[in-house]
Amino acid sequence: MRAGAAPAVMSQGAAHKTMGAAVGIDFGTSNSAVAFAGPSGPVRALPLEGDATTLPTAVFFNSEDRSTHFGRDAVSLYLAGVEGRLMRSLKSLLGSSLMNETTAVYDGLVSFQDIVTRFLAELASRAEGHLGQRPASVVLGRPVHFVDDDPKRDRQAEDALRQAARAAGFRHIEFQLEPIAAAFDHEQRVTRESLVLVTDIGGGTSDFTVVRLGPERVALADRAQDILATSGVHIGGTDFDQRLNLECVMPLLGLRHQGPQGREVPSKVFFDLSTWHLIHWAQTPKAVREANELRSNYTDLRLHDRLMRVLREAQGHRIASEVEQAKILGSNQDAPAAIDLDFAEKGLSATLRPEDLSTHLDEALSRVVACAHECVRRAGLHTRQLDGIYLTGGSSALRPFRHALAHSFAGVPMIEGDLFGGVAAGLACTAQRRGLA
Ligand SMILES: Nc1ncnc2c1ncn2[C@@H]1O[C@H](COP(=O)(O)OP(=O)(O)OP(=O)(O)O)[C@@H](O)[C@H]1O
Ligand SMILES: [Mg+2]
Repeated sequence: MRAGAAPAVMSQGAAHKTMGAAVGIDFGTSNSAVAFAGPSGPVRALPLEGDATTLPTAVFFNSEDRSTHFGRDAVSLYLAGVEGRLMRSLKSLLGSSLMNETTAVYDGLVSFQDIVTRFLAELASRAEGHLGQRPASVVLGRPVHFVDDDPKRDRQAEDALRQAARAAGFRHIEFQLEPIAAAFDHEQRVTRESLVLVTDIGGGTSDFTVVRLGPERVALADRAQDILATSGVHIGGTDFDQRLNLECVMPLLGLRHQGPQGREVPSKVFFDLSTWHLIHWAQTPKAVREANELRSNYTDLRLHDRLMRVLREAQGHRIASEVEQAKILGSNQDAPAAIDLDFAEKGLSATLRPEDLSTHLDEALSRVVACAHECVRRAGLHTRQLDGIYLTGGSSALRPFRHALAHSFAGVPMIEGDLFGGVAAGLACTAQRRGLA
């Protein structure tokens, strides 16, 4: 593997044949998925919530009946106004000092490390429901960089995920880079040998690999020569949501609002409130008290009333979800989308226009596209030597991203991938190839 590859993704050989079932787990910032291949069978995405083969990476601690919920169920209880705590974007905390912080839930204090463990254990038991046995081995996906430009914290992030998987009951744990997993999944369907730039634009990171794929190569035991380069940057859909939130919603709560002395309201609370993995911290009793003390910084007290209502009623995730839905709808339909803020003040709303998507996300998207070019450069190739660009990850559907990529890689065919299941499927392929199942 060439420059840009992260460590700790090498095969451990076929020494684990007696370990019981092995699965691939894509623990995503926004959505997680589990796939199973067995020793020789085809890859199977496992249903995780009803028929759905994804489980939103969300945990809700219901303090009304002291129960814990996961996925869509967790989000819908929160949105229904049930008393409790919602946790999202847990993966963004890996490698940060917040991982070992504790938070109060109905059954006492839990650390974020514990919450990741509980989530992985839930995935394992839902997989067990379909496989008839609890998976003992797992190939976990990991982004090219959990943390940009900080190898020590990057290692800590992988260690934290490994430790959580172990505590969740997995006895044998290996890693594979997410874009390489996506490439192996895509390879199941290629009909001729080709050089492909695989782009996985998710909720937390954008990851790339340039690979040589082909029907004759699928069975090769050692693919190191076929992986020409990897690159990754810590920018994804949750960052897009944060930016749109800061531009279109937070000003209605006081961001950039001038107080009586002509000074702007301090911005930290708005930053935390619009950052998926920090929303929880913006709504702790201490943070709410601090926000209450900002009142003298406001000229228009209505804006402060909105902020306090949002914080006291823990509506931060609701705003983030509204912004995310508007982003997806606005992008899919290329039309203005409403952001309902009635819960902050009767009748309040904001509008996200298609030009907001391109203007406010321009800088982040340029960095993502630059990272794609970096991958091709590391592979020692010119863009015209690519046979195609394979698109996966939910954020790869974002209209301004598609435009920016098509413009910057003019003439290279785009290949539409499985946006949400490809990585898990490729991780299950990896488990099979490494002889874990
Ligand atoms: N049609 C769409 N247009 C734009 N963005 C979308 C669309 N559908 C989903 N998204 C975004 O895709 C992201 C989730 O994608 P995905 O499930 O691939 O991420 P993930 O695997 O959880 O994250 P990561 O791989 O970065 O850890 C979210 O930010 C979501 O808002
Ligand atoms: Mg992903």
